[in-house]
Amino acid sequence: MPAQTQQHAHHDFDFSAWAQQQLAQVEQALTDWVGVGAPAGLGEVMRYAVLDGGKRLRPLLVLAAAQAVGGHGQAALRAACAVELIHAYSLVHDDMPCMDNDVLRRGKPTVHVAFGEARALLAGDALQAQAFELLTPHEDQVPAAIQAQCCRILALAAGAQGMAGGQAIDLASVGRQLTEAQLRQMHSLKTGALLQASVQLGAACGQVDAQTLSALHSYAQALGLAFQVVDDVLDVVADAATLGKTPGKDAACDKPTYVALLGLEDAQALAQDLLVQACEALQRSGLADTRALLALAHQVVGRSH
Ligand code: IPE
Ligand code: IPE
Ligand code: MG
Ligand code: MG
Ligand code: MG
Repeated sequence: MPAQTQQHAHHDFDFSAWAQQQLAQVEQALTDWVGVGAPAGLGEVMRYAVLDGGKRLRPLLVLAAAQAVGGHGQAALRAACAVELIHAYSLVHDDMPCMDNDVLRRGKPTVHVAFGEARALLAGDALQAQAFELLTPHEDQVPAAIQAQCCRILALAAGAQGMAGGQAIDLASVGRQLTEAQLRQMHSLKTGALLQASVQLGAACGQVDAQTLSALHSYAQALGLAFQVVDDVLDVVADAATLGKTPGKDAACDKPTYVALLGLEDAQALAQDLLVQACEALQRSGLADTRALLALAHQVVGRSH
């Protein structure tokens, strides 16, 4: 293992204590905000989709990036929740019968199984809108310039140039043999865009120069792709109890994946290469403290669910 990937293993940084503290804040904020006051039981569906579950990787990336650049705390917490709402909405729709037709998510029946398709669709719609509401509080809470920048980052990442576009490629690719470049493009949009946005959102909460931003961009690009490569691997090697979702679905649905393209071992090796790239990018960033970002990259590649 290259020296730089071991950085997290020593020194005084307690990642799990850091993460626990950030997660507590995020869970509290989500509990306070999501779906509150929604009519006709829609709030209950939104809360089912968001609360009690999920690794919260995207919020942790926002907070780690914001802390690395000395960013605005309230802006970062709102951005962390906003990106998680977009992610949660994407999962609700991804699981619906018209897309992946999955019945298990985060260890629970999927939203459409629990509440029906119409309410799943609406909860997804409402979560997407609420993400942007969270990014735009009264100006005394977050400076207007940060609000505008965060809205733009998240809109681009969620839309046709990002997650939704990637999902369209995913659906159009069922049963097809994609080249490595095509598969990379699909993954970088459907999953990478929101992870990339998470790091960008954190950076937008503070002041960074172009060189730092470009290093953070490379970090997030490598991490984003590694994340989906590992997701593809876990679909093959993990069990439902660990995964919290039904394994084996990619092959069953004839989805193009890194495992299908490269085989299991080479896919795993690719994830390791991408981890090294992410670590190297952080070293180039010139930021004083990237320990949380570094630990998150290790977590993405080493995760079991
Ligand atoms: C799963 O994302 C869906 C993909 C984008 C591949 P996560 O693995 O981050 O799901 P949760 O949020 O922890 O449930
Ligand atoms: C989901 O990709 C990506 C989005 C929801 C945008 P997958 O379809 O591979 O995710 P899982 O495996 O169902 O979590
Ligand atoms: Mg899918
Ligand atoms: Mg799916
Ligand atoms: Mg998957």
